[in-house]
Amino acid sequence: MKRYYITTPIYYVNDVPHIGHSYTTLAADTLARYKRLQGEKVFFLTGTDEHGQKIQKAAKSVNLTPQELADKVVSNFQRLWKKLGITNDFFVRTTDDYHVKCVQEAFEYIYKKGDIYKGEYEGWYCIPCESYYSEIEIGEEKLCPVCGRKLDLVKEESYFFKLSAYEDKLLKFYEENPDFVIPNTRFNEIKSFVKGGLKDLSITRTSFDWGIPVPFDDKHVIYVWFDALLNYVSAIGCRKGEFDEIWPADVHFVGKDILRFHAVYWPAFLMSLDLPLPKHVVAHGWWTVDGKKMSKSLGNVVDPNEMIEKYTRDAYRYFLLRNVPFGLDGDFSERELIERINSELVNDFGNLVNRSLTMIEKYLDGVVNMPITVEDDSLAKLGKSTYENVVKHMDIFRFDEALIDIFDYVRAVNKYITEKEPWALHKQKKSAELNEVLYNIFSALKFIAGVISPFLPDSSAKMLEMLGLNDIGSYNIEFFLDFYNVEQAKVEKKTILFERIEQRKEESKKKEKRISIDEFFNVELRVAKVLEAEDVEKSRKLIKLKIDIGEEKPRTLVAGLKEYYKPEELVGKLIVVVANLKPAKLMGIESNGMLLAAKDGENLSLLTVEKPVKPGAKIS
Ligand code: MSP
Repeated sequence: MKRYYITTPIYYVNDVPHIGHSYTTLAADTLARYKRLQGEKVFFLTGTDEHGQKIQKAAKSVNLTPQELADKVVSNFQRLWKKLGITNDFFVRTTDDYHVKCVQEAFEYIYKKGDIYKGEYEGWYCIPCESYYSEIEIGEEKLCPVCGRKLDLVKEESYFFKLSAYEDKLLKFYEENPDFVIPNTRFNEIKSFVKGGLKDLSITRTSFDWGIPVPFDDKHVIYVWFDALLNYVSAIGCRKGEFDEIWPADVHFVGKDILRFHAVYWPAFLMSLDLPLPKHVVAHGWWTVDGKKMSKSLGNVVDPNEMIEKYTRDAYRYFLLRNVPFGLDGDFSERELIERINSELVNDFGNLVNRSLTMIEKYLDGVVNMPITVEDDSLAKLGKSTYENVVKHMDIFRFDEALIDIFDYVRAVNKYITEKEPWALHKQKKSAELNEVLYNIFSALKFIAGVISPFLPDSSAKMLEMLGLNDIGSYNIEFFLDFYNVEQAKVEKKTILFERIEQRKEESKKKEKRISIDEFFNVELRVAKVLEAEDVEKSRKLIKLKIDIGEEKPRTLVAGLKEYYKPEELVGKLIVVVANLKPAKLMGIESNGMLLAAKDGENLSLLTVEKPVKPGAKIS
């Protein structure tokens, strides 16, 4: 039986894993779990991309060899995947021997076939992105279209892959496989890129040596993308052993930034290697944080470890997959994460489980028995149609929609409870009816535990345990879909699934208020000399100052100092002023700037400088 083969991109080891990396991996893990639930045999691969100039440079900057850096960073990824509950079957590293061998074999195979030739390359190259870009892409300013950095004009002897020879073949393949790239909008971009004409691709470098040597010309190392893409076949034996059972890949998950490599270059390499092509390349969007691009310099890189520790991995998984229509860009905000936890995970989901188990314990001593006849199988029917919708959405990789289907069902069960009023049935001693209603609720929980397991594996496991159905490994979706297949079960409310986030919300608010160094530098602080000072009439608090802030004319500034200083005490002082504040009118006087002072209860003390400096001196 062919295994359903799912891959993530392999991650560069010049950086620690962040929310963007965890997103691709989470999507792949969710699909892997979902396919296993459906009874498929799955092979799920992730790993690290360890060669290239970027890694070599990063290693040098921290005084390590590239291999030492890779070994160090790779464990960050492996630890995080464990923490997130990622169920990959194998972890590939491009510095592993089997991979190096596979890449060299592939290079030779293509060379012998005549699709690789030696030439000279000149082009605009982005070192961090390891990519050449065409004149059209980079515009007048010669900036990298992906990261915005300045490009270098590079000339080097290089081996080329005859990509141009694959233009028609690729277009034909796209036409025959209309869902090769998902979503369709991105597929259209790929098609127009190929239709625009393909140039041969430089696939070796001589300017650095951290890479796999060309087997017959060790002056050259193999271009990091040729090397990296081959991980998808090297990891499964590079044509040997289990290879045919696993290849071709069913889904390559990628971010939109690396789609071209997977949807154009990779199929062309595979055609040249005489290997079958992958079924789907699924591209997701990019995450920003609180509306801003995530970057080290802004200090807003979200560390998944921290989020998991704070909110649990299920909540983190839920938020990432639910908050964004898969394929589009998304924004990460801790506030929204907390809102979703409290409203959807606590109120809707956790509460349903909690109240259901409480009732079964209270009214049936924790034991549900299959009813002899069933009067109302509405939850069973709704479960079936819910699952059909989930399948429909998972078929097109809409994790968000699948979660909406499941949570609609959760709310429907809550409604069922409200309508059936088990507490009234108990009071009225309608025991047969009560047993049926509670059994239906039990089966609905069983169904939810099953269908949600790919998304929220910990909650699913907890539910199954509390329902007395621990051994999830041996069940598949059929078991969960059938409402009337458990003769008897003993349930026990052992724990709650999610905790409401209250006071932690405050903490995170505080954290969210932290600013980056760049934001701080938006505030222009300067030293100013007080030239004149007078009380503002009719005001209890305000004093009007004339200050020299190093500009042509003195500025007027109004400050609430009357209770603490006499005007004459202020004259001559060197104070600290926010110089780029918008003007504001106080008691009809326009104030241009704000002075800084420290306050502790009754005391107020103006900020001043320790040694005299010229008015206008910058503060940083
Ligand atoms: N090494 C290459 C991939 C080679 S695959 C044969 C690479 N690595 S990467 O570490 O830079 O990026 C890996 C993945 O993380 C990409 O799919 C990329 O889209 C994703 N993300 C990196 N930052 C991201 C966000 N801010 N948001 C979402 N995903 C982003 O590229």
